[in-house]
Amino acid sequence: MSIDLAVIGGSGLYAFEGLENVERQRVETPFGPASGDVVTGDFRGKRLAFLARHGESHTLPPHRVNYRANLWALHSLGARRVVAVNAVGGIRDDMGPRTLVVPDQIIDYTHGRYTSFNDVDGAEVRHIDFSEPYTQSLRQAIVAAARAEGLAIIDGGVHGVTQGPRLETRAEIARMRRDGCDLVGMTGMPEAALARELDLEFACLALVANYAAGAGDEAEISIEEIFAHLAAATANVPPILGRLLADA
Ligand code: HPA
Repeated sequence: MSIDLAVIGGSGLYAFEGLENVERQRVETPFGPASGDVVTGDFRGKRLAFLARHGESHTLPPHRVNYRANLWALHSLGARRVVAVNAVGGIRDDMGPRTLVVPDQIIDYTHGRYTSFNDVDGAEVRHIDFSEPYTQSLRQAIVAAARAEGLAIIDGGVHGVTQGPRLETRAEIARMRRDGCDLVGMTGMPEAALARELDLEFACLALVANYAAGAGDEAEISIEEIFAHLAAATANVPPILGRLLADA
C-alpha cells in the first residue's frame, strides 16, 4: 500500500476528519509501541496516514512520546512524506494566537529523550546533516497550499523546542527570544531529527495557540484559551493538506 502523505497530529488534533475507506494498524516497532494506531484513509483521492502524537485521548506528555516508534511505524507502512502538526506559543510579535507558521529552523532545548535510532548497543554511529532541519520542497508545498486556500501563513521561523510539559517562565522566553526563537513548542524534537535519519521528507505546520510567557500582554496564559485558539487554528489543517494532496 502506498501512502501519499503521513500526518502527525499534535495537541488539538487527535483524528483526521473526512477520511474514507479507513483502516487502523497497530505497528510493532523495535522501539516499542507508537502513540497509538496509525489510521489510514482516502482523502481527496490520495492515501493519508494519521497518527495522534499524544495518543487519541491525549495521555502522553511531550517527554513521554515514543518519537522513534512513531516515525518508524509511519516509515514501515510506506510513508515517505510527513507533515507534523504542532501546537506552539508565539514569541515574535506577528505570531499571535491562531497564526499558521511553517518554521524553517529549530533550536533544541529538550533533554533526556531518545534522539537517534542508532542509540542501541552495537549500532553504527551516523551523523546526519541537519543544517536545514525541514524539507524545503514540502515546506513550500504547505505554504502554497495554505495560500491557495486563501489562508494567511508565515513562511519561516525558528522553532524552539522545550522539554515541557509545563509552559516556560518569562525569563526562559526572553532568553529564547535572544537566541533567535520565534516560536516555542514541546514536541518538535527529536521528531525532526529522527525523520531525517529515516530520510523522510518532513515539515512542520505550527499552529500558534497563545503568546508565549511574557511575549503578549497577558499576565498569565489561560489553558482554556489555548485550547479554544487551537481548535480554531486546527480547523485549517484539513483544507491545507487536502489542497497539498490535490496539487501533488
Ligand atoms: N510553550 C510551549 N509549548 C506550547 C506553548 C507555549 O507557550 N503553547 C502551545 N504549546
